[in-house]
Amino acid sequence: MRAPTELKPTLPARRSRSVPELIFGDLWDYDPSPETADPKLKSQYDLFIDGEFVPARSGITFETINPGNERKLADVALAGAEDVDRAFQAARRAYDTVWSKLPAKERGKYLYRLARLLQDRAREFAVAESLNGGKPIKESRDFDVPMAAAHFFYNAGWADKLAYAFPGVRTSPHGVVGQVIPWNFPLLMLAWKIAPALAAGNCVVLKPAETTPITALKFAEILQEAGLPPGVVNIVTGAGETGAAVVAHPLAAKVAFTGSTEVGKLIQRQLAGSGKKLTLELGGKAANVVFDDAPLDQAVEGIINGIFFNQGHVCCAGSRLLVQENIAEVVGTKLRNRLRSLRVGDPLDKNTDVGAINSRAQLDKINELVESGLKEGAELYQSPCRLPSKGFYFRPTLFTRVTQSHRIAREEIFGPVLSVLTFRTVEEAVEKANNTAYGLSAGVWTDKGSRILKLSTELKAGVIWANTFNKFDPSSPFGGYKESGFGREGGRQGLAEYLKIDGPIVAQP
Ligand code: NAI
Ligand code: MG
Repeated sequence: MRAPTELKPTLPARRSRSVPELIFGDLWDYDPSPETADPKLKSQYDLFIDGEFVPARSGITFETINPGNERKLADVALAGAEDVDRAFQAARRAYDTVWSKLPAKERGKYLYRLARLLQDRAREFAVAESLNGGKPIKESRDFDVPMAAAHFFYNAGWADKLAYAFPGVRTSPHGVVGQVIPWNFPLLMLAWKIAPALAAGNCVVLKPAETTPITALKFAEILQEAGLPPGVVNIVTGAGETGAAVVAHPLAAKVAFTGSTEVGKLIQRQLAGSGKKLTLELGGKAANVVFDDAPLDQAVEGIINGIFFNQGHVCCAGSRLLVQENIAEVVGTKLRNRLRSLRVGDPLDKNTDVGAINSRAQLDKINELVESGLKEGAELYQSPCRLPSKGFYFRPTLFTRVTQSHRIAREEIFGPVLSVLTFRTVEEAVEKANNTAYGLSAGVWTDKGSRILKLSTELKAGVIWANTFNKFDPSSPFGGYKESGFGREGGRQGLAEYLKIDGPIVAQP
């Protein structure tokens, strides 16, 4: 029997009301909430060679400043070639006489000790990191310092288990390794470099970046506190010339570099034919790909984190947003609203989301690339926030109507600037995402697991995040393809870079 027509369920009239958005942005001001822990800075820092702080032979020093207010923090010794040589001689001596003779489990104990001492002084290190580098205290406190300690813990565990990490083969350390690190994650990059090197049984000469030497030199205090044998880790401060001397030193059996693609290429040419083992972790221009079936609010948080974390000074930053055309409008609106709510300012304020640009040089570079975006016809949106009058700051910035030929779509800006491009099909997304000289990381936002698997296979990037971004773990390898470099850091793969494979283990009859 057919139901009488009057009993047919009637659909409610379609609501025309749009979903209300919560927009806080500039509605009210927060009271300042400055972090007060004492960073225990010295006014003068020497080089750390053979277990002691020593001045550079030349006596030359350079100033290191707080990019948040341009005030001087300390004078730092500038290492010349002679000092770098002293550091390598000390490392080689330590390797031959102490470190290579130590049972592996003793190496592990030192690494545990370094991790714990860093945890003990976590707040002090977080403040020092934010003061010297400009990153918000909530990031140095909740990410950089705990993650640095985590890398020491992780590698401490491997030190006496290398036979399990690499079963069936005999391995040996390289001896002395030379390491050059950048300014965007000064302490964390130090941990990524030193922890696996020591766990594998190497000795180290490390050069921090010229704008951010302080936490590395404070870490030298921890090396002393831990009673690490003199010479096992040496820290030489200075700029490119010092870095070049580290890389070129004949005792550096392995070189690990993180920094610009430009310098990475230079080093690769310099070391060609030298027989030195090399790993390079260089720039990136990651695509963050958002499909129309993605959970959009989550995706927006991921996009914001992907590009504004650490002021965008992140090699794996999601600097190219690829958004499916039919949701470009709504995602754009959500992003602009979210951008307005980011709090930009004093790195030491606990409410700060986006801190200071690391240096005037980097600020100039960002300005230049943003100008080029305007000139080439992209559409600019910037957060209307107030910026501090002193220090290096840049407004969170969004470019729409970006095409693939624009410089802002091709070059690494390394600042809080997002370029938005659109796509229609999966194939177009993959093609555009891969249309870059780099290949460090990528993000995919979609409801479909099959699509995630397809993209994670087809995107040419070392790390691919699905429905998340910027997730790190010491056990997970990190590194790039193409002009983003080669070699891996983190995990067993990262440890393997610090070992030579000498041959198979031959079973005894
Ligand atoms: P950079 O590559 O010049 O500096 C990185 C490190 O390399 C520093 O410790 C520096 O002193 C050292 N260095 C410089 N020249 C060297 C040489 N010839 N031999 C050995 N070591 C050398 O990077 P810079 O100039 O500070 O930044 C320029 C751009 O590079 C940034 O705007 C960004 O796009 C990119 N970059 C990427 C990083 C990443 O994590 N992949 C980190 C830093 C910068
Ligand atoms: Mg440079």
